[in-house]
Amino acid sequence: MEFFEIIERRHSVRSFTDETVSQEDITRMLKTALAAPSSRNSRSSSFMVIEDKTLITSIAGMRDYGSAFVEHAPLVVLVMGDEQRSDLWMVNASISATFLQLAAEALSLGNCWVHVEGRPHKKDEPDGLSAEEYLRSFLPIPEGRRILCAIAIGHSAEHEAKPRTETACDDRVIVVK
Ligand SMILES: Cc1cc2nc3c(=O)[nH]c(=O)nc-3n(C[C@H](O)[C@H](O)[C@H](O)COP(=O)(O)O)c2cc1C
Repeated sequence: MEFFEIIERRHSVRSFTDETVSQEDITRMLKTALAAPSSRNSRSSSFMVIEDKTLITSIAGMRDYGSAFVEHAPLVVLVMGDEQRSDLWMVNASISATFLQLAAEALSLGNCWVHVEGRPHKKDEPDGLSAEEYLRSFLPIPEGRRILCAIAIGHSAEHEAKPRTETACDDRVIVVK
């Protein structure tokens, strides 16, 4: 698929069919994400690939708002960063996650970012257990690695969304001549 077509088609997808994602597609997405740029070439991003249904159900419970849909994804990739390798680990991991999402789109796989870092497990308990601490309680997250987000991936069960209509005249664009 051509690059600009990927950008125009891209939308967050939160509903998936039961079809699994092929190993070939998983490998291509990871190779793309690993090729993302990083501050001082610190390569601080890393990924955890999860296909186990029981684990995915537990991951869906990371927050009591905005993560329940993950339960029906056949694949979840956690995007992590190494704080020791870069003070900009979060920025690096965001770029890696975006590369992963665009690779999924190029392979016609639906996907959605679910945020972890700085989010509470329970919305009404902002100072209680964090979503990250909850995930660490049952996933083998290496020491020193932080979790930025989870990307839920699968074959879309949603109607094809309309192509995007953004234009360069958007008020978010400031042109200085
Ligand atoms: C940093 C970030 C955090 C996000 N967190 C969530 C989330 O926790 N749950 C969710 O359903 N979508 C999440 N999203 C997806 C956004 O809601 C989505 O990108 C936005 O509504 C725009 O829709 P679009 O991706 O279809 O253009 C997140 C996206 C980003 C970039």
